[in-house]
Amino acid sequence: MRVGVFDSGAGGLTVAKSLLQTPFFDEIIYYGDTARVPYGTKDSNTIIRYGLEAIEFFNNFDIDVLITACNTVSAYALNDMRQKAKYPIYGVIEPGIWALSRAVEKKDANILIIGTRATINSKQYQNSLKELGYKNVTSIQTGMLVPIVEEGIFEGSVLNEMLSYYFKDIKTPDAIILGCTHFPLISEAISRYFNNKPILIHSGEAIVDYLKYHGFNQSCEKCNITIYASDNVEGLRKISKKWLDR
Ligand code: DGL
Repeated sequence: MRVGVFDSGAGGLTVAKSLLQTPFFDEIIYYGDTARVPYGTKDSNTIIRYGLEAIEFFNNFDIDVLITACNTVSAYALNDMRQKAKYPIYGVIEPGIWALSRAVEKKDANILIIGTRATINSKQYQNSLKELGYKNVTSIQTGMLVPIVEEGIFEGSVLNEMLSYYFKDIKTPDAIILGCTHFPLISEAISRYFNNKPILIHSGEAIVDYLKYHGFNQSCEKCNITIYASDNVEGLRKISKKWLDR
């Protein structure tokens, strides 16, 4: 089974990494729109257009399913993309909510959502959590963490400084939704900031469990991944070699 994985840039590789650890697919076609990253600062019409253009890109490959490994695109463009595609498309927000609801039973738990400006403004996470009865939900736009990750900074003083800037008024939460696929790369620093107390919800792990639950039971022997990008494909391939170790 061939899966397309789409993100604005390198962040979706965290989802690809989780998928590579499953036997669901024999081939991953990864597309990062590196020419236009970040998406999280764009308005909804632009994000929808980028999502539809990604469908055109994937028309060059005979994919069976597409995973939108970008919370920002998942927040705005899934319906339009689904209307244009001939294969199923999964986003990462619904799996993230599902993972949170399995990990956190208490409805009065303190939940923190971090994501891009667009994702937080869409209120997709906040509204779904409210519908499920969670009462103490805080959300913060942490878009500056995206270029930090794209820059390859996963630890150290610049990152810690940025975390203090965003989290200075936040009491240690019980759970944090990493509502941007770039953030698992800095999850250790985030966790350390809060003394390793919160449960972290990671889009890649969430979608793997979600697919399993929804009947994905293929047992492919090995999975190849090919990386494509709208700009500096060699740069993205280098990052992917490092992160995915292949
Ligand atoms: N990785 C994207 C996400 O999950 C965000 C990065 C961006 O702003 O393009 O939302």
